Amino acid sequence: MPIKTYDTISGLRGELSARRSAGAGAGVGFVPTMGALHEGHISLVRRAAAENDITVVSIFLNPLQFDESADLDSYPKTLEADIRLCEAAGTDLVFCPSVREIYPDGASTRIEMDGPTDVLCGRSRPRHFSGVLTVVGKLFHIVEPDAAYFGEKDAQQLAVIRKMVRDLNMNVNIVGCPTVREADGLAMSSRNVHLNADERKASVCLFRALTAALEKLGDAAGHGAPEDDSEWARLTADVTGSARAVLDAEPLARTEYVELLDAETLAPLGGSSRAALCAIAARIGDTRLIDNMRFSLNE
Ligand code: PAF
Repeated sequence: MPIKTYDTISGLRGELSARRSAGAGAGVGFVPTMGALHEGHISLVRRAAAENDITVVSIFLNPLQFDESADLDSYPKTLEADIRLCEAAGTDLVFCPSVREIYPDGASTRIEMDGPTDVLCGRSRPRHFSGVLTVVGKLFHIVEPDAAYFGEKDAQQLAVIRKMVRDLNMNVNIVGCPTVREADGLAMSSRNVHLNADERKASVCLFRALTAALEKLGDAAGHGAPEDDSEWARLTADVTGSARAVLDAEPLARTEYVELLDAETLAPLGGSSRAALCAIAARIGDTRLIDNMRFSLNE
């Protein structure tokens, strides 16, 4: 069937309900996006299409999750090309609503979370995760997917969405998908188009910093697990220090944070941590990039 696009909630719901009652509803896979699609998004769509009967992609540039309006204004907008990419990757339905459709006048309910939203990117972007959770919660109610697909590149987003689903008893399976990288290691991101040639070369420092951190962590893990909180803190400082040294050596990079945390809870590492997440945010020129790698501890 050819791809169909809907810009109203009622239109999308009507189509989904018709397809479900026609018996095609064994599984609805959902990929929420803000558009400007790249190979990273497309890998999510392909996986959703392979694992479900109906694949829905939303393309909605969510104003609620932008702390800076300049960031929202400069976000690339490529709707027609996005729809073609979705079609080629096996999407059945694209939902591309207006801001007014998602947030009608007077809509003022928000999803707020304490804890993992306050660390990493939450420190410099205090309203960001409430904006993400609010729109993802609304989209889940609209699409009612069986499974929803998110990139591991946005590790904090993935962790807080998993927590929201648990905390609010939402009936959707959250599937994390591996980060897709350019040949030199740069994680694919809609923001990469803002990098000029020098900045593009410099941006590989995030990948190199993470690789250095994971090597350090691997060496330390080979010498046995830390025995108490102060040993975990020392290990964390050593690992983040080795990543920071790589970033500091790149003149075009300004580091916002380098952190090593428990990959599930985003709390400091400790004896009960099953995996560590090393996460970086840095500006290369004016472009803010994030990246992370996960390291298995007791899994
Ligand atoms: O990752 C994104 O593109 C966005 O944060 C999301 C999940 C589509 C919510 O707007």
